[in-house]
Amino acid sequence: MNPTLWVWSMGAASEYWRSRKGFILAAIGSAIGLGNIWRFSWLTYRNGGGAFIIPYFIALIVVGVPLIILEFVLGNYFKGSSPKVFRKIREQFEVVGWIAIIDVFVIGLYYAVVLAWVLAYVGFSLTVAWGTVEGVGDLFNSLLGNPLLVGVTLAITWFITWLTVYKGIASGIERASLFAIPILWILSVALVIRGLTLPGSVEGINWYLTPNWAKLAEGKVWVDAFGQILFTLSVMAAPLVVYASYMPEKSELPNSAWITAFANCGFSFFFGFATWGIIGYLMQLQNVASPEQLGVPLGGGGLAFVTIPTAVTLLPGAPVSTMVFGTIFFVILWLAGYTSLISIVEPVYASFRDKFGVDRKTGVTVITLLSFILGLLFVFQPGLIDPVDFMAGSTNLIWVVFLEAVIAGYYFSLKKLRDYVNPYAELRLGPWFDVLIRYVAPIALVAILSYGLVTAGQMSPISAVVLIAIILASVVLAGMKWRGEEK
Ligand code: PHE
Repeated sequence: MNPTLWVWSMGAASEYWRSRKGFILAAIGSAIGLGNIWRFSWLTYRNGGGAFIIPYFIALIVVGVPLIILEFVLGNYFKGSSPKVFRKIREQFEVVGWIAIIDVFVIGLYYAVVLAWVLAYVGFSLTVAWGTVEGVGDLFNSLLGNPLLVGVTLAITWFITWLTVYKGIASGIERASLFAIPILWILSVALVIRGLTLPGSVEGINWYLTPNWAKLAEGKVWVDAFGQILFTLSVMAAPLVVYASYMPEKSELPNSAWITAFANCGFSFFFGFATWGIIGYLMQLQNVASPEQLGVPLGGGGLAFVTIPTAVTLLPGAPVSTMVFGTIFFVILWLAGYTSLISIVEPVYASFRDKFGVDRKTGVTVITLLSFILGLLFVFQPGLIDPVDFMAGSTNLIWVVFLEAVIAGYYFSLKKLRDYVNPYAELRLGPWFDVLIRYVAPIALVAILSYGLVTAGQMSPISAVVLIAIILASVVLAGMKWRGEEK
């Protein structure tokens, strides 16, 4: 049979979300992750405080929201994973889908290792294992040098993830999201209240939000804003496409996309008050005038694994309050990352199901097992995480999403997609949507990518190897035969 015809005749996904609420919470679960907690508040501070909200918001409106809408609509319209979606648009575009899938698989490898550290810290917090403030840095270093412990928490993280995705859409992922996301919010409210009621918190919040308008003239600030929006919303032609394929036809999609985007960005902004309230408290205790003088790291993993443990150790009411708020912080971080990790496994599985007919149980088991084994590389070599993330978690997202917008905008009919969703939409898509997808988003993405590559200077040999490996694997996968397809 003609392969194109054959693919067209493939049946609809046989699994569905039980409710729209479950779908939206799962999408929010994918979006809210490690990125919201330790990346957002640090980026905001570094890039002009309150002024950063402007490029961030522009990135959200210009690229974030239109692309979530597009991914929801593509997944639902074509009913499948991105290799299938892109192949249905043009056979030769299938490879773009695979690049997204291999890329998200690579993100999962190190993302899970960071979650494994977080899980170890849930245990450390329960026992206040770092002891005194002086012990905080040593404990983190000794964790990085303890592959056995990280290997165990990595295995637990993958086991729970495996169990969730193995059980399928409604009884696995939907249930986990309905449980995890509300808890995440409740615990975060508790932490924000604690942060804001600490003496000195206002000073921290001032550092977080006082606008420095001059920063907006720096290109780097805009690169950070756009890169962060793609990563934080999980917009990369993988999780959201396949999540939306499990909504029945005639579902509301555009407003669900807006809700997902605002819940995610609202969470980041809100959680910043906890982080910066606590930093303000530390500043007051140490009697320093600016966060840089604290002597604790503010960005990346340092914030979570050094600054927060330091701060909770010094809370009034220690050691009980240390245990309580330390544990709350790391449970929030773990739950946020866990619902993102399941959204990394699901699209990988769905792509192999679509192309090769792999069943869920086998597919999910092989993917999680392989991820665990390959992830051990980052357990032994934590220094690899940054260069790999620079490629898989940042640069690749930008050009893959660019291709996604161009393919949908120029090789398929956006009007057809609009007509498909509008009858059921709470917020209808007008021609503005076409303008954003065809012109505004691609131009913005190309500008960001070229500027980022020129200035970032982080293109290490490791990053290059990651890029080449992802492309090679994708070309091989795209070249293989679809199930049932004849020569
Ligand atoms: N959105 C997640 C976060 O902010 C990360 C993620 C990216 C998850 C891409 C899935 C796909 O942590």
